[in-house]
Amino acid sequence: MERLTGSSARLSRASSIADLRRLAHRRLPRIVFDYIDGGAEEEVTLRENCRVFERVLFRPRCAVAVPRCDLRTTVLGSTFELPFLLAPIGSSRVFYPRAEVLAARAAGAAGTAYTLSTVSGCRLEDVKAATTGPAWLQVYLVGGRDVARAAIERARTAGFSALVVTVDTAVSGLRERDLRNGAKEIVARRLWPMLPYLPQMLVRPRWLMGFLADGGLMNFPNVILPGGRPMSYAELPAALEQSVVLWDDLEWIRRVWDGPLIVKGVLTGEDARLALEAGAQAIIVSNHGGRQLDTVSPTLRALPEVVSAVAGRAEVLIDGGIRRGSDVVKALCLGARAVLIGRAYAYGLGAAGEAGVAKAIDILRTDLVRTLRLLGCPSVRELDRSYIDGTGTLTE
Ligand code: FNR
Repeated sequence: MERLTGSSARLSRASSIADLRRLAHRRLPRIVFDYIDGGAEEEVTLRENCRVFERVLFRPRCAVAVPRCDLRTTVLGSTFELPFLLAPIGSSRVFYPRAEVLAARAAGAAGTAYTLSTVSGCRLEDVKAATTGPAWLQVYLVGGRDVARAAIERARTAGFSALVVTVDTAVSGLRERDLRNGAKEIVARRLWPMLPYLPQMLVRPRWLMGFLADGGLMNFPNVILPGGRPMSYAELPAALEQSVVLWDDLEWIRRVWDGPLIVKGVLTGEDARLALEAGAQAIIVSNHGGRQLDTVSPTLRALPEVVSAVAGRAEVLIDGGIRRGSDVVKALCLGARAVLIGRAYAYGLGAAGEAGVAKAIDILRTDLVRTLRLLGCPSVRELDRSYIDGTGTLTE
Protein backbone atom coordinates (compact mmCIF):
# COMPACT_ATOMS: atom_id res chain seq x y z
CA MET A 1 0.00 0.00 0.00
CA GLU A 2 1.30 3.45 -0.89
CA ARG A 3 2.41 5.32 2.21
CA LEU A 4 0.88 8.75 2.51
CA THR A 5 3.27 11.45 3.58
CA GLY A 6 2.97 14.86 5.20
CA SER A 7 0.02 16.92 4.10
CA SER A 8 -1.84 14.15 2.25
CA ALA A 9 -1.63 11.91 5.34
CA ARG A 10 -3.01 14.74 7.45
CA LEU A 11 -5.79 15.31 4.93
CA SER A 12 -6.74 11.66 4.85
CA ARG A 13 -6.91 11.62 8.66
CA ALA A 14 -9.28 14.60 8.79
CA SER A 15 -12.67 13.49 10.06
CA SER A 16 -14.46 16.77 10.59
CA ILE A 17 -14.68 20.23 9.05
CA ALA A 18 -12.90 21.48 12.19
CA ASP A 19 -9.94 19.28 11.18
CA LEU A 20 -9.92 20.88 7.72
CA ARG A 21 -10.03 24.30 9.34
CA ARG A 22 -6.87 23.41 11.29
CA LEU A 23 -5.15 22.24 8.10
CA ALA A 24 -6.11 25.46 6.32
CA HIS A 25 -4.69 27.42 9.24
CA ARG A 26 -1.43 25.50 8.84
CA ARG A 27 -1.04 26.13 5.10
CA LEU A 28 -2.42 29.65 4.64
CA PRO A 29 -0.94 32.98 5.71
CA ARG A 30 -2.91 34.69 8.46
CA ILE A 31 -4.41 37.27 6.11
CA VAL A 32 -5.91 34.56 3.88
CA PHE A 33 -7.03 32.27 6.69
CA ASP A 34 -8.73 35.15 8.50
CA TYR A 35 -10.40 36.30 5.30
CA ILE A 36 -12.11 32.89 5.14
CA ASP A 37 -12.63 32.38 8.85
CA GLY A 38 -13.65 35.87 9.97
CA GLY A 39 -16.89 37.78 10.07
CA ALA A 40 -18.14 41.32 10.53
CA GLU A 41 -17.58 43.52 13.60
CA GLU A 42 -17.90 41.47 16.84
CA GLU A 43 -18.60 38.28 14.82
CA VAL A 44 -21.78 37.69 16.83
CA THR A 45 -23.75 36.43 13.84
CA LEU A 46 -20.81 34.34 12.65
CA ARG A 47 -20.80 32.50 15.98
CA GLU A 48 -24.58 32.31 16.32
CA ASN A 49 -24.97 30.82 12.84
CA CYS A 50 -23.16 27.74 14.16
CA ARG A 51 -24.41 27.79 17.73
CA VAL A 52 -28.10 27.83 16.82
CA PHE A 53 -27.80 24.32 15.36
CA GLU A 54 -26.81 23.02 18.80
CA ARG A 55 -30.13 24.14 20.27
CA VAL A 56 -32.20 22.02 17.90
CA LEU A 57 -32.37 18.48 19.19
CA PHE A 58 -33.20 15.27 17.35
CA ARG A 59 -36.17 12.97 17.95
CA PRO A 60 -34.97 9.67 16.49
CA ARG A 61 -37.08 6.67 15.54
CA CYS A 62 -35.29 3.72 17.11
CA ALA A 63 -35.18 0.08 16.08
CA VAL A 64 -35.79 1.00 12.44
CA ALA A 65 -33.70 -0.67 9.75
CA VAL A 66 -32.20 1.85 7.31
CA PRO A 67 -29.83 -0.23 5.19
CA ARG A 68 -29.58 2.43 2.46
CA CYS A 69 -29.96 6.16 2.73
CA ASP A 70 -31.11 8.24 -0.18
CA LEU A 71 -29.36 11.61 -0.15
CA ARG A 72 -30.75 12.79 -3.48
CA THR A 73 -32.95 15.83 -3.83
CA THR A 74 -34.17 18.04 -6.63
CA VAL A 75 -33.36 21.70 -6.83
CA LEU A 76 -34.98 23.81 -9.54
CA GLY A 77 -35.85 20.70 -11.50
CA SER A 78 -32.36 19.12 -11.43
CA THR A 79 -31.51 16.07 -9.39
CA PHE A 80 -28.60 16.56 -7.02
CA GLU A 81 -26.88 13.54 -5.48
CA LEU A 82 -26.51 15.46 -2.23
CA PRO A 83 -28.77 17.90 -0.39
CA PHE A 84 -25.97 20.47 -0.28
CA LEU A 85 -24.10 22.51 -2.86
CA LEU A 86 -21.16 24.90 -2.87
CA ALA A 87 -21.81 28.57 -2.04
CA PRO A 88 -20.10 31.43 -3.85
CA ILE A 89 -16.80 32.34 -2.20
CA GLY A 90 -15.17 35.44 -3.69
CA SER A 91 -11.41 35.53 -4.29
CA SER A 92 -11.02 31.77 -3.80
CA ARG A 93 -8.07 31.88 -6.18
CA VAL A 94 -6.05 33.49 -3.42
CA PHE A 95 -6.45 30.32 -1.31
CA TYR A 96 -5.14 27.92 -3.94
CA PRO A 97 -4.06 28.12 -7.61
CA ARG A 98 -7.03 28.01 -10.01
CA ALA A 99 -9.25 27.35 -7.01
CA GLU A 100 -12.64 27.99 -8.62
CA VAL A 101 -11.96 25.45 -11.37
CA LEU A 102 -10.87 22.88 -8.78
CA ALA A 103 -13.83 23.44 -6.47
CA ALA A 104 -16.29 23.20 -9.37
CA ARG A 105 -14.70 19.94 -10.49
CA ALA A 106 -14.94 18.45 -7.00
CA ALA A 107 -18.60 19.49 -6.76
CA GLY A 108 -19.40 17.94 -10.14
CA ALA A 109 -17.63 14.70 -9.22
CA ALA A 110 -19.87 14.48 -6.14
CA GLY A 111 -23.00 15.12 -8.20
CA THR A 112 -23.75 18.55 -6.86
CA ALA A 113 -23.59 22.19 -7.97
CA TYR A 114 -20.92 24.86 -7.69
CA THR A 115 -21.78 28.55 -7.41
CA LEU A 116 -19.18 30.87 -8.92
CA SER A 117 -18.85 34.31 -7.32
CA THR A 118 -18.81 37.37 -9.58
CA VAL A 119 -15.55 38.28 -7.87
CA SER A 120 -13.59 35.20 -8.85
CA GLY A 121 -10.16 34.71 -10.33
CA CYS A 122 -10.98 32.09 -12.98
CA ARG A 123 -12.92 32.70 -16.17
CA LEU A 124 -16.48 31.47 -15.91
CA GLU A 125 -16.09 29.47 -19.14
CA ASP A 126 -13.16 27.52 -17.61
CA VAL A 127 -15.15 26.86 -14.43
CA LYS A 128 -18.14 25.50 -16.32
CA ALA A 129 -15.91 23.35 -18.54
CA ALA A 130 -14.30 21.79 -15.45
CA THR A 131 -17.46 20.41 -13.90
CA THR A 132 -19.86 17.65 -14.83
CA GLY A 133 -22.42 19.10 -12.41
CA PRO A 134 -24.60 22.21 -12.57
CA ALA A 135 -22.86 25.58 -12.29
CA TRP A 136 -24.63 28.66 -10.99
CA LEU A 137 -23.34 32.21 -11.35
CA GLN A 138 -23.61 34.58 -8.38
CA VAL A 139 -24.25 38.13 -9.49
CA TYR A 140 -23.18 41.47 -8.09
CA LEU A 141 -23.80 44.46 -10.31
CA VAL A 142 -20.24 45.74 -9.90
CA GLY A 143 -19.37 47.93 -12.86
CA GLY A 144 -23.05 48.56 -13.63
CA ARG A 145 -25.79 46.87 -15.60
CA ASP A 146 -23.93 46.71 -18.94
CA VAL A 147 -20.98 44.96 -17.32
CA ALA A 148 -23.34 42.52 -15.57
CA ARG A 149 -25.28 41.90 -18.79
CA ALA A 150 -22.07 40.86 -20.57
CA ALA A 151 -21.25 38.38 -17.79
CA ILE A 152 -24.80 37.00 -17.80
CA GLU A 153 -24.62 36.50 -21.57
CA ARG A 154 -21.28 34.71 -21.22
CA ALA A 155 -22.78 32.54 -18.48
CA ARG A 156 -25.72 31.59 -20.69
CA THR A 157 -23.41 30.67 -23.58
CA ALA A 158 -21.13 28.68 -21.27
CA GLY A 159 -24.07 26.67 -19.90
CA PHE A 160 -24.60 28.04 -16.38
CA SER A 161 -28.00 26.88 -15.24
CA ALA A 162 -29.07 29.53 -12.69
CA LEU A 163 -28.24 33.03 -11.50
CA VAL A 164 -27.89 33.76 -7.80
CA VAL A 165 -28.38 37.44 -7.08
CA THR A 166 -26.95 38.51 -3.74
CA VAL A 167 -28.97 41.27 -2.11
CA ASP A 168 -27.21 41.75 1.24
CA THR A 169 -24.10 43.58 0.09
CA ALA A 170 -25.01 47.27 -0.17
CA VAL A 171 -21.52 47.89 1.15
CA SER A 172 -18.85 45.49 2.40
CA GLY A 173 -19.23 44.54 6.08
CA LEU A 174 -16.58 45.76 8.51
CA ARG A 175 -14.25 42.77 8.74
CA GLU A 176 -11.80 43.85 11.35
CA ARG A 177 -9.47 40.87 10.99
CA ASP A 178 -8.85 41.86 7.36
CA LEU A 179 -7.97 45.40 8.40
CA ARG A 180 -5.61 44.21 11.13
CA ASN A 181 -3.86 41.89 8.68
CA GLY A 182 -3.21 44.71 6.18
CA ALA A 183 -5.74 43.72 3.50
CA LYS A 184 -6.15 47.36 2.41
CA GLU A 185 -2.42 47.98 2.12
CA ILE A 186 -1.80 44.74 0.21
CA VAL A 187 -4.65 45.27 -2.22
CA ALA A 188 -3.34 48.79 -2.95
CA ARG A 189 -0.05 47.14 -4.01
CA ARG A 190 2.19 49.96 -2.77
CA LEU A 191 5.46 48.60 -1.43
CA TRP A 192 6.14 50.72 1.68
CA PRO A 193 2.69 50.50 3.29
CA MET A 194 2.62 46.79 2.44
CA LEU A 195 6.01 45.89 3.97
CA PRO A 196 4.92 45.29 7.59
CA TYR A 197 2.36 42.75 6.40
CA LEU A 198 4.62 40.64 4.16
CA PRO A 199 6.22 38.38 6.80
CA GLN A 200 2.92 36.54 7.35
CA MET A 201 3.24 35.35 3.74
CA LEU A 202 6.92 34.53 3.90
CA VAL A 203 6.28 32.07 6.72
CA ARG A 204 3.94 30.08 4.47
CA PRO A 205 6.35 29.20 1.59
CA ARG A 206 4.20 26.38 0.20
CA TRP A 207 1.24 28.72 -0.19
CA LEU A 208 3.47 31.57 -1.43
CA MET A 209 5.07 29.51 -4.22
CA GLY A 210 1.68 28.39 -5.48
CA PHE A 211 0.28 31.93 -5.26
CA LEU A 212 3.16 33.46 -7.24
CA ALA A 213 3.19 30.65 -9.83
CA ASP A 214 -0.55 31.27 -10.31
CA GLY A 215 0.08 34.92 -11.17
CA GLY A 216 -0.17 36.56 -7.72
CA LEU A 217 -3.13 38.75 -6.78
CA MET A 218 -5.67 38.21 -9.49
CA ASN A 219 -7.99 40.56 -11.33
CA PHE A 220 -11.63 39.64 -11.88
CA PRO A 221 -11.96 38.12 -15.38
CA ASN A 222 -15.75 37.93 -15.14
CA VAL A 223 -16.09 41.67 -14.54
CA ILE A 224 -14.96 43.19 -17.81
CA LEU A 225 -15.06 46.98 -17.69
CA PRO A 226 -15.68 49.27 -20.68
CA GLY A 227 -12.48 49.19 -22.71
CA GLY A 228 -12.15 45.45 -22.21
CA ARG A 229 -10.07 45.38 -19.02
CA PRO A 230 -10.94 43.17 -16.04
CA MET A 231 -11.78 44.93 -12.78
CA SER A 232 -8.86 44.98 -10.35
CA TYR A 233 -8.97 44.04 -6.69
CA ALA A 234 -8.40 47.63 -5.58
CA GLU A 235 -11.48 48.81 -7.49
CA LEU A 236 -13.87 46.36 -5.82
CA PRO A 237 -14.97 48.09 -2.57
CA ALA A 238 -16.02 51.30 -4.35
CA ALA A 239 -17.64 49.32 -7.17
CA LEU A 240 -19.74 47.36 -4.65
CA GLU A 241 -20.99 50.55 -3.03
CA GLN A 242 -21.94 52.04 -6.37
CA SER A 243 -23.87 48.98 -7.45
CA VAL A 244 -26.31 48.13 -4.67
CA VAL A 245 -28.81 45.61 -6.01
CA LEU A 246 -32.38 46.91 -5.70
CA TRP A 247 -35.63 45.03 -6.31
CA ASP A 248 -36.08 46.74 -9.68
CA ASP A 249 -32.62 45.49 -10.70
CA LEU A 250 -34.01 42.00 -10.17
CA GLU A 251 -36.81 42.76 -12.55
CA TRP A 252 -34.18 43.96 -15.04
CA ILE A 253 -32.16 40.75 -14.56
CA ARG A 254 -35.38 38.80 -15.11
CA ARG A 255 -35.61 40.46 -18.51
CA VAL A 256 -32.03 39.65 -19.59
CA TRP A 257 -31.95 36.11 -18.13
CA ASP A 258 -34.77 33.70 -18.83
CA GLY A 259 -33.38 30.82 -16.72
CA PRO A 260 -33.89 30.18 -12.99
CA LEU A 261 -33.31 33.16 -10.73
CA ILE A 262 -32.33 32.75 -7.09
CA VAL A 263 -32.21 35.56 -4.54
CA LYS A 264 -29.54 35.17 -1.85
CA GLY A 265 -29.43 37.07 1.41
CA VAL A 266 -33.06 37.04 2.58
CA LEU A 267 -33.73 36.95 6.34
CA THR A 268 -37.37 38.04 6.66
CA GLY A 269 -40.80 37.04 5.38
CA GLU A 270 -41.28 40.55 3.94
CA ASP A 271 -38.16 40.33 1.76
CA ALA A 272 -39.05 36.80 0.74
CA ARG A 273 -42.36 38.09 -0.65
CA LEU A 274 -40.60 40.92 -2.50
CA ALA A 275 -38.15 38.42 -4.00
CA LEU A 276 -41.06 36.32 -5.24
CA GLU A 277 -42.72 39.40 -6.76
CA ALA A 278 -39.46 40.17 -8.54
CA GLY A 279 -39.55 36.72 -10.14
CA ALA A 280 -37.33 34.54 -7.93
CA GLN A 281 -37.86 30.78 -8.24
CA ALA A 282 -35.73 30.11 -5.19
CA ILE A 283 -34.62 32.04 -2.13
CA ILE A 284 -31.47 31.52 -0.12
CA VAL A 285 -31.87 32.40 3.54
CA SER A 286 -28.43 33.81 4.20
CA ASN A 287 -26.60 36.46 6.17
CA HIS A 288 -23.46 36.07 4.06
CA GLY A 289 -21.93 33.83 6.70
CA GLY A 290 -21.98 36.65 9.27
CA ARG A 291 -19.76 38.86 7.11
CA GLN A 292 -22.15 41.74 6.44
CA LEU A 293 -24.47 43.25 9.06
CA ASP A 294 -23.47 41.85 12.44
CA THR A 295 -26.12 40.82 15.01
CA VAL A 296 -28.71 39.86 12.41
CA SER A 297 -30.52 36.57 13.06
CA PRO A 298 -28.65 33.35 12.61
CA THR A 299 -30.06 31.85 9.46
CA LEU A 300 -31.59 28.72 10.98
CA ARG A 301 -33.69 30.98 13.17
CA ALA A 302 -34.87 33.01 10.16
CA LEU A 303 -35.70 29.91 8.11
CA PRO A 304 -39.21 29.11 9.46
CA GLU A 305 -40.41 32.69 8.86
CA VAL A 306 -39.21 32.60 5.26
CA VAL A 307 -40.59 29.11 4.60
CA SER A 308 -43.97 30.21 5.88
CA ALA A 309 -43.99 33.47 3.84
CA VAL A 310 -43.03 31.62 0.67
CA ALA A 311 -45.76 29.03 1.29
CA GLY A 312 -44.55 26.60 -1.37
CA ARG A 313 -44.39 29.19 -4.17
CA ALA A 314 -40.60 28.87 -4.48
CA GLU A 315 -37.85 26.64 -3.17
CA VAL A 316 -36.15 27.77 0.01
CA LEU A 317 -32.45 27.10 0.50
CA ILE A 318 -30.27 28.17 3.40
CA ASP A 319 -26.62 28.75 4.23
CA GLY A 320 -24.64 29.81 7.28
CA GLY A 321 -22.91 27.83 9.98
CA ILE A 322 -23.17 24.40 8.40
CA ARG A 323 -20.22 22.35 9.60
CA ARG A 324 -21.73 18.87 10.06
CA GLY A 325 -24.14 16.57 8.27
CA SER A 326 -26.44 16.85 11.26
CA ASP A 327 -26.68 20.62 10.59
CA VAL A 328 -27.81 19.86 7.04
CA VAL A 329 -30.44 17.46 8.41
CA LYS A 330 -31.79 20.07 10.85
CA ALA A 331 -32.14 22.68 8.08
CA LEU A 332 -34.02 20.19 5.90
CA CYS A 333 -36.31 19.29 8.82
CA LEU A 334 -37.19 22.97 9.09
CA GLY A 335 -38.25 23.20 5.46
CA ALA A 336 -35.11 23.92 3.41
CA ARG A 337 -34.96 22.12 0.07
CA ALA A 338 -31.15 22.05 0.22
CA VAL A 339 -28.33 23.95 1.89
CA LEU A 340 -25.22 25.72 0.68
CA ILE A 341 -21.89 25.23 2.34
CA GLY A 342 -19.38 28.08 2.42
CA ARG A 343 -16.48 27.87 4.85
CA ALA A 344 -16.93 24.09 5.18
CA TYR A 345 -15.45 23.65 1.69
CA ALA A 346 -13.35 26.83 1.69
CA TYR A 347 -11.24 25.39 4.53
CA GLY A 348 -10.71 22.27 2.43
CA LEU A 349 -9.77 24.38 -0.58
CA GLY A 350 -7.26 26.36 1.46
CA ALA A 351 -5.83 23.20 3.02
CA ALA A 352 -5.39 21.10 -0.11
CA GLY A 353 -7.14 22.42 -3.24
CA GLU A 354 -9.39 19.97 -5.06
CA ALA A 355 -8.57 17.07 -2.71
CA GLY A 356 -9.52 19.26 0.23
CA VAL A 357 -12.89 20.17 -1.28
CA ALA A 358 -13.53 16.51 -2.09
CA LYS A 359 -12.65 15.67 1.52
CA ALA A 360 -15.06 18.31 2.88
CA ILE A 361 -17.86 16.92 0.72
CA ASP A 362 -17.02 13.38 1.78
CA ILE A 363 -17.03 14.30 5.48
CA LEU A 364 -20.50 15.83 5.16
CA ARG A 365 -21.80 12.95 3.04
CA THR A 366 -20.58 10.37 5.59
CA ASP A 367 -22.07 12.44 8.41
CA LEU A 368 -25.41 12.63 6.59
CA VAL A 369 -25.67 8.89 6.09
CA ARG A 370 -24.79 8.19 9.72
CA THR A 371 -27.24 10.80 10.99
CA LEU A 372 -30.09 9.49 8.85
CA ARG A 373 -29.46 5.92 9.98
CA LEU A 374 -29.38 6.96 13.61
CA LEU A 375 -32.57 8.93 13.09
CA GLY A 376 -34.27 5.98 11.42
CA CYS A 377 -35.04 7.99 8.27
CA PRO A 378 -34.26 6.45 4.86
CA SER A 379 -34.29 9.58 2.71
CA VAL A 380 -33.52 13.29 3.01
CA ARG A 381 -36.83 13.93 1.25
CA GLU A 382 -38.71 12.42 4.18
CA LEU A 383 -37.20 14.71 6.80
CA ASP A 384 -39.69 16.96 8.55
CA ARG A 385 -40.30 18.65 11.89
CA SER A 386 -41.25 15.38 13.55
CA TYR A 387 -37.53 14.50 13.63
CA ILE A 388 -36.53 17.52 15.71
CA ASP A 389 -37.36 19.12 18.99
CA GLY A 390 -36.46 22.47 20.46
CA THR A 391 -37.52 24.67 17.57
CA GLY A 392 -39.16 26.77 20.30
CA THR A 393 -35.67 27.64 21.51
CA LEU A 394 -34.92 29.15 18.11
CA THR A 395 -37.14 32.11 18.91
CA GLU A 396 -35.88 32.71 22.45
C1 FNR B 1 -18.51 34.51 1.10
N1 FNR B 1 -19.84 34.68 0.71
C2 FNR B 1 -20.12 35.25 -0.52
N2 FNR B 1 -21.39 35.38 -0.94
C3 FNR B 1 -21.69 35.92 -2.15
O1 FNR B 1 -22.87 36.01 -2.50
N3 FNR B 1 -20.67 36.35 -2.96
C4 FNR B 1 -19.37 36.27 -2.61
O2 FNR B 1 -18.48 36.64 -3.37
C5 FNR B 1 -19.06 35.72 -1.33
N4 FNR B 1 -17.77 35.64 -0.90
C6 FNR B 1 -17.47 35.02 0.30
C7 FNR B 1 -16.15 34.88 0.70
C8 FNR B 1 -15.86 34.18 1.86
C9 FNR B 1 -14.43 33.99 2.27
C10 FNR B 1 -16.90 33.64 2.65
C11 FNR B 1 -16.60 32.84 3.90
C12 FNR B 1 -18.21 33.82 2.28
C13 FNR B 1 -20.93 34.13 1.52
C14 FNR B 1 -21.17 32.66 1.17
O3 FNR B 1 -21.67 32.53 -0.13
C15 FNR B 1 -22.15 32.00 2.16
O4 FNR B 1 -23.30 32.80 2.25
C16 FNR B 1 -21.54 31.82 3.53
O5 FNR B 1 -20.20 31.41 3.44
C17 FNR B 1 -22.34 30.79 4.33
O6 FNR B 1 -21.87 30.66 5.61
P1 FNR B 1 -20.81 29.53 6.08
O7 FNR B 1 -21.23 28.23 5.45
O8 FNR B 1 -19.48 29.98 5.58
O9 FNR B 1 -20.91 29.56 7.56
